Amino acid sequence: MAPPAGLSEDTRAAYERGRLIFNGHFRPSGTQGPDDLVGLGPLYNRISCASCHNAGGRGFPPEGPGDNFLTALVRIGIVDAVGTVTPHPLFGTQIQDRAVPGLEPEATVSLNWDIQPGEYPDGQSFELRKPVLDIQPDPGVLAQWSIRVAQPIRGIGLLEPMILPKDSFGRFGWKATEPTIVMQNAAALSQDMGITSVFHQTPICPKGQTDCGGGAREISGVSLGELTLFTKLLPPPASTDVQDTKGEYLFHLVGCASCHIPELPSRAGPEPVRAYTDLSLHDMGPGLDDGLPEGGAKSFEWRTPPLWGLGDILEKNPSAPLLHDGRARGAEEAILWHGGEALKPRNDFMALSQEDRSHLLEFLSGL
Ligand code: HEC
Ligand code: HEC
Repeated sequence: MAPPAGLSEDTRAAYERGRLIFNGHFRPSGTQGPDDLVGLGPLYNRISCASCHNAGGRGFPPEGPGDNFLTALVRIGIVDAVGTVTPHPLFGTQIQDRAVPGLEPEATVSLNWDIQPGEYPDGQSFELRKPVLDIQPDPGVLAQWSIRVAQPIRGIGLLEPMILPKDSFGRFGWKATEPTIVMQNAAALSQDMGITSVFHQTPICPKGQTDCGGGAREISGVSLGELTLFTKLLPPPASTDVQDTKGEYLFHLVGCASCHIPELPSRAGPEPVRAYTDLSLHDMGPGLDDGLPEGGAKSFEWRTPPLWGLGDILEKNPSAPLLHDGRARGAEEAILWHGGEALKPRNDFMALSQEDRSHLLEFLSGL
């Protein structure tokens, strides 16, 4: 995560400080150590940004019931008959599965997979897996939850000024709930690490606990600014050398590019942003509906994720966990989960010959 070339000395220094905050391990208030990076918890998921976004990368779900949530988390809420969400009385809007010494974590979460077999029109078979979650204590029948793996954050500084075909309030998060990077980072500090800031002054406080250090700004505005500068300047992932022009043609032909728009103009300058996304919410159908609306997004709506950097991820691991909860083992399964507005492109992909499907997948591994 070296600084990009051409920064002024001051900006470079701020980038370095931002990087230290991103990688730094936060400690509970009142413990010994340097003055900054304090205020962890009382409830939290992980002690640093980098523990979920390793080198700015994405997270993965637990492999099975015995595994901890290391780089993923669970959002939760009570949903009424008309789809209005209220925070869960025990867990709030996110389950913090860790707590500072002396306190109990909110809950334990354990994940298993339900295997669903399927078949292409040409007879080739496949298997998809869907997450099944066990939460203890039992959140009750009205609760709905949503598993989220950490998103890759390289290049997000280019996504912020991108001019979208259909502008909306939010653009960050799997459901585009946060409008700006600084708001997203402040939300991460609060929800994932229990760090208050100018945007989130009240700590996530366990039930029955009153002394949670409310009102304090555990991270200063300056430090939040440096952290944000760092995340904004992280360069986008490089594409791999793989090229497949037939696959690229098919990507457009079956309609993937209507949401994964290859490039869009930017307010920041003349260079377009080649991220393969419209950053907008789409109805993705019942398969990806996990029952929990959030912000302006319905339970079946998801933001088109950028596909830049997919090649690098798949090169390291062809079955890398994709989609918001990491259920897809590689790009092919990710496509097969598409439904709703993307049902026709998904069906047209399925109807391609095996050779043409391979071309399209080969094209994706070059992004
Ligand atoms: C417990 C794991 C975890 C930790 C710790 C964590 N994140 Fe995240 N991050 C996530 C998840 C999960 C998402 C997607 C959230 C959603 O769907 O709204 C995310 C999303 C983001 C995004 C949005 C990316 C995009 O393309 O929209 C940014 C930026 C981000 N995190 C920055 C940070 C920063 C900065 C920190 C440290 C203050 C941090 N995160 C700590 C898990 C984590
Ligand atoms: C209607 C809009 C739309 C269309 C059309 C569409 N996608 Fe997507 N795509 C999405 C959304 C939204 C997600 C995220 C869904 C989720 O996380 O649950 C996604 C996720 C993905 C992912 C996983 C990315 C990641 O980072 O996890 C891949 C790969 C992908 N799409 C490829 C394709 C291909 C190939 C096609 C054409 C066959 C296609 N998509 C058509 C909206 C669309």
